[in-house]
Amino acid sequence: NKESSSSRGALIVLEGLDRCGKTSQSGRLYKYLDEQGHSVESWRFPDRNTGVGQMISSYLANKSQLDDHAIHLLFSANRWEKRSLMEEKLKSGTTLIVDRYSYSGVAFSSAKGLDIEWCKAPEIGLLAPDLVVYLDISPEKAAERGGYGDERYEQLEFQKKVAGSYLSLRDSSWKVIDATLSIEDVEKKLREVVLDCMITCHKGKPLSQLWP
Ligand code: TMP
Repeated sequence: NKESSSSRGALIVLEGLDRCGKTSQSGRLYKYLDEQGHSVESWRFPDRNTGVGQMISSYLANKSQLDDHAIHLLFSANRWEKRSLMEEKLKSGTTLIVDRYSYSGVAFSSAKGLDIEWCKAPEIGLLAPDLVVYLDISPEKAAERGGYGDERYEQLEFQKKVAGSYLSLRDSSWKVIDATLSIEDVEKKLREVVLDCMITCHKGKPLSQLWP
């Protein structure tokens, strides 16, 4: 831990449609903060390394079928199984850059038609992010980027519904970055909002819980 133990790390969440560039941007952000000497880790959900994560992974690869409610609860359980470690890391001063979180959980499941309040319920009590960054791209543009794999949700019609769900979840605290800008420009804007947030957490902003 390269920072003083009295200040906590920030919980930074990146959200967006599939192919919005989240994963490359979290990697670049991680590298930058690490090189700057910050204590930082790069996380992602689903975390496919746990037992629950393996069930999710098999579902996403269409190797198993699950009721929409059941898979929703597995995604949530996958966050719950990491909650105490997350809190420990943040309290010890480590900033976490998290690729997808509860908002993905709610956006993707409600896009299937599940009730939004029902979708939010199992997330209650998870740690609330200090910053949510939404990498904004239209479903059509994202699809043009190619590389939609064979995973279950990587289809234009479904991504359009997810975009709608994200829109209803967004609030004024979210930072929205145009994901169609160049990689470097997105990176620059992302660094600005993240550094700002880290300072606020450093100064003693308390950790809070979902949903605020
Ligand atoms: P990934 O491509 O970022 O690994 O995410 C896998 C897929 O799972 C992606 O299409 C989004 C979806 N997802 C959910 O449906 N619910 C969740 O809670 C999370 C974290 C992801």
